[in-house]
Amino acid sequence: MPDILISENIRGAAVDALFSRFEVVSLPDLWKNPQELLQRIGDFRALIVRNQTQVNAALLEAAKKLVVVGRAGVGLDNVDVAASTKAGVLITSTPEQNAISVAELAIGLMLALARMIPAVNADTKAGNWNRLRFMGTEICGKTMGIVGAGKIGYLTGRRAQSFGMKVLAYDPFISRDNILLSELNAELVSLEDLLERSDVVSCHLPATAQTARLLNAQCFARMKRTATLINTSRGEVIVEEDLVAALKSGHIAGAAIDVRASEPPRPGELERLSNVILSPHVGALTHEAQGRVTRAICEDVSRVLDGKPAMNPVNRPHAAAMAG
Ligand code: MLT
Repeated sequence: MPDILISENIRGAAVDALFSRFEVVSLPDLWKNPQELLQRIGDFRALIVRNQTQVNAALLEAAKKLVVVGRAGVGLDNVDVAASTKAGVLITSTPEQNAISVAELAIGLMLALARMIPAVNADTKAGNWNRLRFMGTEICGKTMGIVGAGKIGYLTGRRAQSFGMKVLAYDPFISRDNILLSELNAELVSLEDLLERSDVVSCHLPATAQTARLLNAQCFARMKRTATLINTSRGEVIVEEDLVAALKSGHIAGAAIDVRASEPPRPGELERLSNVILSPHVGALTHEAQGRVTRAICEDVSRVLDGKPAMNPVNRPHAAAMAG
């Protein structure tokens, strides 16, 4: 009987080790064909996905033998956790294994905006030597506002501090006594306060009903005209048309956007703005982060199939079943 279905591109020594212990079927393009996925899933006890496979009610209904879904990543936008719990399916994820890489990208984008590195590179490679055209700004002594002070926000704030920045944080879901925030010694402020005082706003929120379209025209209007916005979390958090308007009107100075509400996005105005740096959701894509993510998810799925508790459970289907 097959054990594990891998429906996206997940490779490495940890996956090879799964093949030696379990019956594994790896179909990296299966997520593109939900009908075929529905037809196949009924045979498997475990499913390993990244962010493309939709683990929804229809899939769970077809997955008669499914015990565990391993989400190789942190965001759960493609996984219906409530439906999984109801179906008795355990979800495990990798809540912090890629956090350093995302924080490093946020810092890289901040520096790239401050010194216009993509434009400088393109202009110089075009044969120019326009030194005075590229007068940048220092980040030392400036203020970074972290919107979402979880692990990635914390690591980004730590790195910002090492550049001599002051750090403000907004997070409606953590208390002033949160240990990461205390260690960061960041000032926990309201969103309005953060937007008004920050020179760089870095967004680290998951996509949820509460965070959807949180950063809108009113928010951009509060920001300094010299401020920049970085989003390496989820595109849904920003109202993109409002961001475009703010960038065009000079309400904010620039933006670096790694994530979009719909991926891949249809090219539009954001792609045409010179004060915008874009990347294709690469925050977690480093060899180190992917190594950790792959090892952690393979280990957790193996543990569950071996009857052991998962290290990084997202839900508690058995507790829910007992309670109700
Ligand atoms: C994550 O949620 O882990 C990252 O955004 C990358 C991904 O979606 O897989």
